Formats: sequence, C-alpha cells, structure tokens
Amino acid sequence: MALYIVLLGPPGAGKGTQAKVIAEREKLVHVSSGDLFRENLKLQTELGKLAQSYMDRGELVPDDITIAMVRERLSQPDCTQGALLDGFPRTPAQAKALDDLLATWGSRINLVPYIAVAPEVLIERLGGRWSCRAEGHVYHEKYNPPKVMGRCDIDGSELYQREDDKPETVKNRIRVYMEQTAPLIAYYRERGLLVEVDGTQPIELVSEQLLKAIAKVRS
Ligand code: AP5
Repeated sequence: MALYIVLLGPPGAGKGTQAKVIAEREKLVHVSSGDLFRENLKLQTELGKLAQSYMDRGELVPDDITIAMVRERLSQPDCTQGALLDGFPRTPAQAKALDDLLATWGSRINLVPYIAVAPEVLIERLGGRWSCRAEGHVYHEKYNPPKVMGRCDIDGSELYQREDDKPETVKNRIRVYMEQTAPLIAYYRERGLLVEVDGTQPIELVSEQLLKAIAKVRS
C-alpha cells in the first residue's frame, strides 16, 4: 500500500532537516514544494521566474500554479509507493486538491506529523541556516554546524544562505504561515491524522519520535 505523509510546521520548524532523515530511513520520495520552486529558479524556467517574485517577499505562490506543479511531481513513477510531502499543502485549497488527487488513485494521506516550534525560535534558526547547493542538505551555524564552514559534509558542495531567510522576509513568512497554513492543523486533527511533535528538542530526538509515529501507521 502506498504511504503518503505530510510534514506540517512553520518555516524553520525543521521539516526539511527531518524529511532527509525520514526519506532515507523509510525509503520514501521526498517531495518539497520549496525545493521544486528553487530548482525551477536555478534553471530560470517560466515557473521559476514567476515563483521568485512571491518567494522573495515571503508570500505564497498562487494555489493553481503550486497544485499543478506538485500534481505533476506526484504523478511520476518514483512516487507510486507514496511520498513524504514537505511544504505542501499550505492552504485549505491545496489540502483539498491533495485529498482529491490521492482519492483518484485510491489512496489517502496516512499521517500528518506537525513539528511545533514557537515563532521567536524560528527567526534565530533561519538566520543561522546554511543550505547546500547540490542537494539542499541543511545546516545551522550553531545547532548543526558542518565540519568545514561553507562546505556540505555529505557532498562537499558550497553552502549558501537563502535570500528569503533575511529577518524581514522571515517575519512575513511566519505571518503568512499563521494566516494561511496554521488552519490545516485543525483540518488534519479533525481527520485523526495529526501527530504533534515538539520541534524544539534536539534534531535526533525529533527524528526518533517521527519514525515511531510512522512505524505505528505502517503496522
Ligand atoms: P519552503 O522552502 O517550503 O520553506 P518553509 O516552509 O518556509 O520552510 P523552511 O525550508 O524555511 O524550513 P524547514 O521547516 O524546512 O526548516 P529546516 O529543516 O531547513 O518555501 C519557501 C517559499 O516557497 C515559500 O515562502 C513560498 O513562497 C514558496 N512555497 C513553497 N511551498 C509552497 C506552497 N505549498 N504553496 C505556495 N508557496 C509555496 O531547519 C531550519 C534551520 O533550523 C536549519 O538551520 C536547521 O539546521 C535548524 N534546525 C532544524 N531542526 C532543529 C532542531 N531540532 N534544533 C535546532 N535547530 C534545528
């Protein structure tokens, strides 16, 4: 049976960090809407250029564009056994579109781990984040530093700081999250899918709790 997991949480909660661990351990495809937009931006596609204007301001890319992009990704053969979604859905319309899409395949969302972190912690996390250019591996200068500053431990590629991690943009991303994405916590809780994890614990402890929750739905 296909397994679909949606990682929910504010910007900087640790979704990307945890997704890398879970995807590897659970042999699941990691589908990150933010990474898909950034790849398009790197390739200077029309989609990437359009998304950039929203991303730079910390606003959400319109639903129709985002839904079409994720639908296309989930339709690829490597996702037939399911996927680990990171950063999607982010609005009630996206959540409904995902439910409908999975239903057409006779599937559904199996689990929604919600990584809870308070806003004041998020600003410090994103201010100190460094991401690798090749594969998007994520570091933090204080909480998860690379062995050599500026180089990815895993693939040796250059580490960079994201444009949208500037304090003013981060504040807007958190505001947008509270207004448009936080309502999904209740949406998934009502459906019995939500498992809340304290995202202020050390990275390894958060991973352990997420993997336990996944083991439960798999059993
Ligand atoms: P996206 O790339 O999805 O960004 P985000 O959701 O804002 O999430 P982040 O990637 O910033 O944070 P994260 O939770 O993955 O944290 P991370 O693991 O890196 O979206 C970017 C933009 O794209 C959006 O603003 C929007 O414009 C557009 N977009 C994307 N999806 C969209 C959608 N569905 N609809 C419309 N628009 C969309 O960790 C953060 C830092 O904390 C790192 O430095 C890490 O090392 C550190 N850290 C992680 N865990 C811990 C821990 N437990 N303790 C201490 N430090 C930790």
